[in-house]
Amino acid sequence: MPDIRVPRRRRFLVCEPRHFAVQYAINPWMHPDLQVDVDLARDQWQSLIHVYRDHGHTVDTLEPVPGLPDMVFAANSAVVVDGRVFGSLFHAPERRPESLHYETWFKAAGYSVHRPESVCEGEGDLVWTGRYVLAGTGFRTTREAHREVQEFFGHPVISLTLVDPYFYHLDTALFVLDDDNIAYYPEAFSPGSREVLARLYPDAVLATHDDAMAFGLNSVSDGRHVFIAPKAEALAARLTEHGYDPVPVDLSEFQKAGGGIKCCTQEIRP
Ligand code: ARG
Repeated sequence: MPDIRVPRRRRFLVCEPRHFAVQYAINPWMHPDLQVDVDLARDQWQSLIHVYRDHGHTVDTLEPVPGLPDMVFAANSAVVVDGRVFGSLFHAPERRPESLHYETWFKAAGYSVHRPESVCEGEGDLVWTGRYVLAGTGFRTTREAHREVQEFFGHPVISLTLVDPYFYHLDTALFVLDDDNIAYYPEAFSPGSREVLARLYPDAVLATHDDAMAFGLNSVSDGRHVFIAPKAEALAARLTEHGYDPVPVDLSEFQKAGGGIKCCTQEIRP
């Protein structure tokens, strides 16, 4: 373990939860009869942005659109590696219009955007490790999209099968700590995928069921600081043992939609 872990400055794209609500149910966390506290959601989201900026990260914002309550979950809109943008095609018809708004933002920022041919939910299921893309399937993003992602980036794509509907996106079950390591919840994966992860990352930080249910795997790491849900206590303790600095940020209102810190954060990799 290195003596001191070195953070790397990141560029994030986020979308204010001005129109955030739970109006439909497309994952087991969502109950449309459950009221969202919009003011609390906005405050929680703003503290995340402040924490990112306080830690030296750049945060860009995109204008939210009325009628798209899940648009706050910026991670799902694309995956950006080497300055190349692979856009999204949502599984749920309710979310499909989001893609075009993000595409418009990326184009205005000077990027061209690849439109996927099959269902693909951006960083929700496509996790860049620094060497290859870990790609989730089972609930949203298709294997066909994994193939398309590999063809587009020319980086190896490793398909992993998710089996628990509570962890319907890869970023609810796994996150990258730095170029060398990840944290994940093994039970969210099929036996074969679990074996693949164990071979690739024999020293991974493993999370408990409670950590995972607290959205502890929906974290963002800059290589040193890990922005993490405060209830994922066991995982935070383990990260500390491994030399990382957990920075708790509470996004509990977003859990009502099945989202957390990472879901609200799109990383733009130059
Ligand atoms: N309600 C959203 C959905 O089910 C939540 C998306 C969470 N995003 C994520 N990156 N896991 O699509």
